[in-house]
Amino acid sequence: MRIAITGANGLLGHGLAQWFGRNHEVTPLTRDDADITSPDAILRVVAAARPDVVIHAAATPDMDLCETNPSLCHAVNVAGTRNVADAARSCGAIFAFISSDAIFDGRKAEPYTETDEPNPVTIYARSKVEGEKIAAAAAEHFIFRVPVLFGPGKGNFVSKGLDALRAGQPCVGPTDQVGGALYTLDAGQSLEQVIVSGRFGLYHISNSGFCSRYELLGKAAMYAGLDPRHISPRTRAQIDRPAPRLPWMGMDMLALDGIGVPRPRPWQEALADYIEGLPEGLNPEVRMMRRGDGR
Ligand SMILES: NC(=O)c1ccc[n+]([C@@H]2O[C@H](COP(=O)([O-])OP(=O)(O)OC[C@H]3O[C@@H](n4cnc5c(N)ncnc54)[C@H](OP(=O)(O)O)[C@@H]3O)[C@@H](O)[C@H]2O)c1
Repeated sequence: MRIAITGANGLLGHGLAQWFGRNHEVTPLTRDDADITSPDAILRVVAAARPDVVIHAAATPDMDLCETNPSLCHAVNVAGTRNVADAARSCGAIFAFISSDAIFDGRKAEPYTETDEPNPVTIYARSKVEGEKIAAAAAEHFIFRVPVLFGPGKGNFVSKGLDALRAGQPCVGPTDQVGGALYTLDAGQSLEQVIVSGRFGLYHISNSGFCSRYELLGKAAMYAGLDPRHISPRTRAQIDRPAPRLPWMGMDMLALDGIGVPRPRPWQEALADYIEGLPEGLNPEVRMMRRGDGR
């Protein structure tokens, strides 16, 4: 397939381009190629790529920036999404939109399913719901909701935490912000399986299992051979940010089950793979245990 990927310099776009590049003809689209807020510019580059599918990973994903700059949020996440969707449609390509677990209100006591109603509580989340509606306006579309991401190519929640620990700087982990986490290369695998299946619709994609952000950083530190005790546990209330964070964002993956695509592996395994690929690598003890020669 020919796959165009917007936001290809971003965290997810980088991982998707790496993954899809193995079996497909990928056109990575960056801001230098086209600003998605310009309909003409994005149409020109999408038309030149002649894609079968456009995966739209470009966005302003910073919740606090969106909360303090709603016009930028709307211009990129809503109007920009409309421009990319229109460009895909004009070129006869299928539009695949990347959404977020942040579109829920965080009040459900169990994992959110694809049939649960979004109830966004932040400006960012509202923009992602608008993006989903734009995507869903075409009969043939994909919407992929993802949780917090980690992966190669760009700093992320995990790598920034590890960098802070290595530098002896303050590192804070929210204890009451719980949900899934997703390795961008595993996202690539699941997206490929769904897209190739041709079963259009809405999918939750996450590594299996749930954790607090504090647990995620703690496990990452342990894998990297750093002392997790230097991570300061904090509640959301203690971390003052413009955009409220949700207590619970766990997503069930019933739509994947429904088409027979396996759920991604547990987040701990994916995290260990990610850390193994970082320059500093895995803690030698963890590496030995993973190779099965540690006993
Ligand atoms: N990161 C997470 O934990 C997370 C969690 C849930 C959902 N998501 C969703 O996943 C998707 C990817 O997020 P990400 O973390 O990969 O974000 P990211 O690293 O910030 O990447 C987004 C990319 O979009 C590009 N972009 C922004 N505005 C643009 C514009 N006007 N024109 C063209 N390109 C533009 C950026 O270009 P520059 O590099 O030039 O700035 C960047 O490369 C987003 O839809 C996000 O909402 C992310």
